[in-house]
Amino acid sequence: VTLSPPQPTDLEPVLTDLGVAVARAADGMRTLIAAAEARRAPPASTFAALAADGLVLLVLAGEPDETELAALREALWPTLHAVAFYRLREGETLRRSHSGGARLAACAVRGTVVALRRREHVLSPESTREKFDANAKGWDDDPASPSYPHFRWMRRYVATFALPKTARRVLDFGCGAGWVGVEAALRTGAQLSAFDPSPQMVENTRRNARGAGVRDVDARVGFGEAPPFAGEAPFDVVISAGVISFSPDRERWLDGLAAMVESRGRLVIADLNPRSHGMKHRRRTKALVPIRELNAATADEVRAGLERRGFAARGRSDYQLSRPIPQLMHLNETKLGGLLSRPLVWLNAAASAGDGLTSGALDVLFDSWVLAFDRRD
Ligand SMILES: C[S@@+](CC[C@H](N)C(=O)[O-])C[C@H]1O[C@@H](n2cnc3c(N)ncnc32)[C@H](O)[C@@H]1O
Repeated sequence: VTLSPPQPTDLEPVLTDLGVAVARAADGMRTLIAAAEARRAPPASTFAALAADGLVLLVLAGEPDETELAALREALWPTLHAVAFYRLREGETLRRSHSGGARLAACAVRGTVVALRRREHVLSPESTREKFDANAKGWDDDPASPSYPHFRWMRRYVATFALPKTARRVLDFGCGAGWVGVEAALRTGAQLSAFDPSPQMVENTRRNARGAGVRDVDARVGFGEAPPFAGEAPFDVVISAGVISFSPDRERWLDGLAAMVESRGRLVIADLNPRSHGMKHRRRTKALVPIRELNAATADEVRAGLERRGFAARGRSDYQLSRPIPQLMHLNETKLGGLLSRPLVWLNAAASAGDGLTSGALDVLFDSWVLAFDRRD
């Protein structure tokens, strides 16, 4: 598959953009430059020797369109994940990545470069911490934002989905800015404990909880695979919203989650639905897709994993209409100045009435699921 890949010096602007020195790129285990024949992805086994923190630059002839790039990304997942795309043009190189677009100096060759890293590296503790520390501000509330009513509705939906009124000690597992746990604590008067890998998020949780009037809050730094409350008294209510899709090791993460719930305690878990029409459409048509959308688990997989760990499922809902909500939210934010904010929440609320435990074909209409369990032993 490596026909005649360019030399590292031919790709200097790309390597510099990715923080790799040209001299280091000569070490093939850390930076692998491969030219793909017929714009197709080489078999994932080609990259078996790549270092854990290695970078692959796949050089493609010409400018494949979005669906071709999406197909290539899918072919290499879950071994590798595409983190950036570069168009190498006359006079300039254009980059697209989750941190935004950029115009760079021209490379010595023309074509398209796909930058890929190992799945485990993109989901590693260091990358997670760095990513969420950098984005922590964006998770804080901005009540003036047109999407605020939607996000507030979502976190209330999960926080109150199966919340016992008698809750005494609530743990928000992967708390982000703390909103789901805060909502649960406010409804019940329970003590709030929370943790997140990002120290910045933990700081925001403390501030947000106090600001919302939750005085009793214990927020710590840690990962779900080794929760920072391990070895202490487990909780009567544990809630985890939008976290399992970031875990590099789902089984270890579920072990960590299960261990936090006391005997007969309640567990509520919610996340993205990889089976939804919208999610599948994005995977087919977009080159750049957040890793959590690829790494997400279905509700049935998570249910089976928790049943194996001694939990009995007691409720499920599929929520957040897959289409047209994300499209309308975008329109609402960019063009309509928030005009649709309320109607969108009503639409979602009306569509997401709990559907019990029978997961039918209807779940493909929703981008998220929530499950509630009781610990049996
Ligand atoms: C999409 S945010 C959701 C935050 C919050 N639960 C909410 O619903 O607003 C995902 C959060 O999961 C955290 N996270 C990522 N990997 C994790 C892991 N392995 N264990 C626990 N938390 C993790 C991130 O730091 C981030 O704050």
